[in-house]
Amino acid sequence: MKIIKSLKSMRALAQQWRREAQKIVLVPTMGGLHEGHLSLIRRGRKAGDKLVVSIFVNPTQFGPREDYSRYPRTFTADKQKCREGGADVIFCPTAEAIYPDKFDTWVSPDVTGSILEGAARPTHFRGVCTIVLKLFNIVLPHTAVFGQKDYQQCLVVKRMVDDLNLPVRIIVSPIIRAADGLALSSRNAYLSPARRRTAGVIYRALCEAKKAIKDGKTQPALLTREVRKTIEGESEFQVEYVEFADPQTLKKQKTVQPPTVVLVAVRLGGIRFIDNLLIK
Ligand code: PAF
Repeated sequence: MKIIKSLKSMRALAQQWRREAQKIVLVPTMGGLHEGHLSLIRRGRKAGDKLVVSIFVNPTQFGPREDYSRYPRTFTADKQKCREGGADVIFCPTAEAIYPDKFDTWVSPDVTGSILEGAARPTHFRGVCTIVLKLFNIVLPHTAVFGQKDYQQCLVVKRMVDDLNLPVRIIVSPIIRAADGLALSSRNAYLSPARRRTAGVIYRALCEAKKAIKDGKTQPALLTREVRKTIEGESEFQVEYVEFADPQTLKKQKTVQPPTVVLVAVRLGGIRFIDNLLIK
């Protein structure tokens, strides 16, 4: 497994692979790798001939008061996980190389990027789309793998691929959960053991909403209230939003009916956690 920092070397290798008719797969990450990432890496391994895992904590997708500086940076352990997952290359550029001083061009999604996470984090998806497009232009993947955990991110990236006619196939890989249902996330590392013990309530609340919908409840206000009540009643998490939305467009459903996706964002001590459940 090669470790490549230089943009030029990464692109030269990708071009060589393309000349050899090798299918390139990219798994973009910000490091702090866990089982959830490993599942993306394993999925990526099967999707082509050459697998690149990028590790880059992208400063431009964090807001000014967010956790960029304390985001988990665990490169030694990440390297081991990438090797286990069968990566051919870890691409880990520096922020200075990705965003040189003269940098001035952004990819900014409009509607899909301004609701839900985009409303809470106004420049987040601009940062995500810009880095993802840059990674696509450097790594030249035929396929890229993203996790369903970041449901809105997947839709935003797919929208960008369609809107900008990018020749990249997007695979969305399922959420990996801990035994109590908590969706695996690098940010779970911020939870104290006591708070971690209550965090399974987020998934439980989503499952209860699913059951309520299957039992015929259709009013978003009522379903939202129940999710809030479960989470806030049984943990210190504060619910920022609960939304029942169309799985393709993320438009709010006035009458909740499958297929629907329930998306939730909760907050604890300045850190946000998101989760979702697709109800078919
Ligand atoms: O999902 C993430 O880890 C990031 O948003 C991504 C896609 C690697 C872009 O920085």
